[in-house]
Amino acid sequence: MRLLITGGAGFIGSHIVEEELKRGTEIAVVDNLSAGKRENIPEGVDFYEIDICNRDELFRVFAEWKPEVVSHQAAQASVSVSMKEPAVDAMVNVVGTLHVLEASVYYGVQHFIFASTGGAIYGEVPEGSKATEEWPVNPKSPYAVAKASVEMYLKIFGDVHGLSYTILRYANVYGPRQDPYGEAGVVAIFCQRILSELPVTVYARRTRGDKGCIRDYVYVKDVDKVHSLCLRKRLRGVYNVSTGQGRTTTEVLETICSVIGARPIVSFDNQRPGDLEVSILDNTRISRFFDGWTDFQRGIEKTVEWFSRNYGS
Ligand SMILES: NC(=O)c1ccc[n+]([C@@H]2O[C@H](COP(=O)([O-])OP(=O)(O)OC[C@H]3O[C@@H](n4cnc5c(N)ncnc54)[C@H](O)[C@@H]3O)[C@@H](O)[C@H]2O)c1
Repeated sequence: MRLLITGGAGFIGSHIVEEELKRGTEIAVVDNLSAGKRENIPEGVDFYEIDICNRDELFRVFAEWKPEVVSHQAAQASVSVSMKEPAVDAMVNVVGTLHVLEASVYYGVQHFIFASTGGAIYGEVPEGSKATEEWPVNPKSPYAVAKASVEMYLKIFGDVHGLSYTILRYANVYGPRQDPYGEAGVVAIFCQRILSELPVTVYARRTRGDKGCIRDYVYVKDVDKVHSLCLRKRLRGVYNVSTGQGRTTTEVLETICSVIGARPIVSFDNQRPGDLEVSILDNTRISRFFDGWTDFQRGIEKTVEWFSRNYGS
């Protein structure tokens, strides 16, 4: 199978690349390295350092490399950047994505996987509920608006051009290689700061006391496994990729502290614009095909192990 993956130098994309290579897949990565790293791309992968906003270059790659399947992971992936610069976000996440879609149709790609967001697309999920895939889409940030519009474009590309596609709505993904210097990715930020003996901040809204927001944390290797399944079974439609379990930021912090054996200085601050308070996603639909979810404690142990090797003193 010939897989072209955009964003393959980034956090999630690079895990998919690593695991797909072990499965014997032929891989091309398209990435402009705006957030991803060259060293995340293993030997044996064809790498094209291009911007998906550049339609001509992207079409040239498709013409030359001839992918059978495409996984679109590239994105401006920060909610706060999208709040400050919605047009920049839309340029990459809508227009850039449309270029990838147009090229996929033009060059007869057999299946297309889109990395959408379950963490942002449903808006606030009331405590005690889990958002199923039928939950109304209710974006609260330009980032989520862009992801929701691409989902609608996909329907058009499916209806009009017969494009076969899977939409994966990821919850909060964590694991090795996540950027600890971004504004999101609390597991990576906590791991790096605690291992560097720095204080940490929990963003909390007064109504929730000092526990922080509630999120559904999914281990990155599980995302790859679900992705692989969708690729091979050509599963069509929309799937939440989540554990269905909510954890407060303080629970996450406590788990990381206990694995590391550290007691950092903790301060609390108000939630940032665009941050949701509660987001838990129902995973019944994908669990019909996959139920090997990594236990949270085990996922944190593996993540801490990696951060200790790369950021520990
Ligand atoms: N990490 C999460 O918890 C999460 C949750 C929901 C959805 N997602 C989505 O999953 C995908 C992967 O996220 P990630 O966490 O690995 O982010 P990431 O920032 O680590 O990876 C994104 C990759 O896309 C590349 N990229 C960005 N703009 C580009 C452009 N214009 N042209 C070419 N390449 C470009 C970056 O260099 C980077 O390598 C994204 O689409 C993101 O929106 C992530």
